[in-house]
Amino acid sequence: MAAMQSLTIPRPDDWHLHLRDGEALRCVVRHTAETFGRAIVMPNLRPPVETVAQAEHYRARILEALDPGLRFDPLMTLYLTPRTTPQEVARAAAHPHVVAIKMYPAGATTNAEAGVSSLDGLEPVLEAMQEHQLPLLIHGESIDPGVDVFDREAVFVERQLGPLVQRFSNLRVVLEHITTAEAAAFVASAPANVAATITPQHLLLDRNALFAGGIRPHHWCLPVLKRERHRQALLAAVGTGDTSFFLGTDSAPHEEATKLSACGCAGIFSAPIALALYAEAFESIDALHRFEGFASRNGPAFYGLPVSKETVTLVRNPQQVPPSYPFGDGVVVPLRAGGVVRWSVRT
Ligand code: NCD
Ligand code: ZN
Repeated sequence: MAAMQSLTIPRPDDWHLHLRDGEALRCVVRHTAETFGRAIVMPNLRPPVETVAQAEHYRARILEALDPGLRFDPLMTLYLTPRTTPQEVARAAAHPHVVAIKMYPAGATTNAEAGVSSLDGLEPVLEAMQEHQLPLLIHGESIDPGVDVFDREAVFVERQLGPLVQRFSNLRVVLEHITTAEAAAFVASAPANVAATITPQHLLLDRNALFAGGIRPHHWCLPVLKRERHRQALLAAVGTGDTSFFLGTDSAPHEEATKLSACGCAGIFSAPIALALYAEAFESIDALHRFEGFASRNGPAFYGLPVSKETVTLVRNPQQVPPSYPFGDGVVVPLRAGGVVRWSVRT
């Protein structure tokens, strides 16, 4: 069969995105809004977005930072902390623009210091989320210091996630940015209230990419890239068309100097080329016919939102990726910087 030259799908959404704030926000928001109709915006600002009132203000800043010509609907999240209350959960559930609560295990990743060291004591909050059907988005990595960094996700799935979904069997849960065969298998076999997002980097790169000819800080993100067999398991998961898996870039911009440092920040910036990169990943396993579900349908179905009536078209036109983009006073280096992506997006 001749290779597909173009692919038109309902306008996709990004179900896991970091937009930052202030000048940085101004620089990056258009890269998402040019392609995606909606995005779930992570609350890991400093200080974190903990309340509905803070989320409303953050959403207003996002819309204000957007070029007037762009239509984009930021879907807001609250940051789960030991201070979160069932009352705030009820407020969030009733709010038209707050769609979920994000759980960061304390210290697990960038700006996760305010997170929770365990879910003990948060049962009333989880009960309220279950009752109001407000999804819990989880950064699924163990913070037990004895656990190897490459095993943190698998250990979290076994020790924390398994018991959580058993105890709160009607809680809507998204295991974010999954990276392992263990996580993919857990989600595939879990009931429909448990889903997962997958990033472009975890579909395209294995951990060798961190050390290709020297250390590669622009490939450093959390959860860290894993072995090739895990990448293959993620590709296999999306290749089946299982509706539990959907697009979440985890595009996480950091200024270049903060990544090229003795203790560099975790986070990969992919927003400008993310959709084209995903298309490459799906094409690599001859699964472009599964792309529409992953990018445009499974996420809205999980969140109970309509599929977009607009479309975007991917064309097999190679694009050159810029070496960097403006970011505040400096620059941010994207995934595949200076390289070529085999697809382009025509909106
Ligand atoms: C994210 C960030 O920079 O905010 N970093 C990352 O490596 N993915 C935080 C996160 O999602 O873990
Ligand atoms: Zn993230």
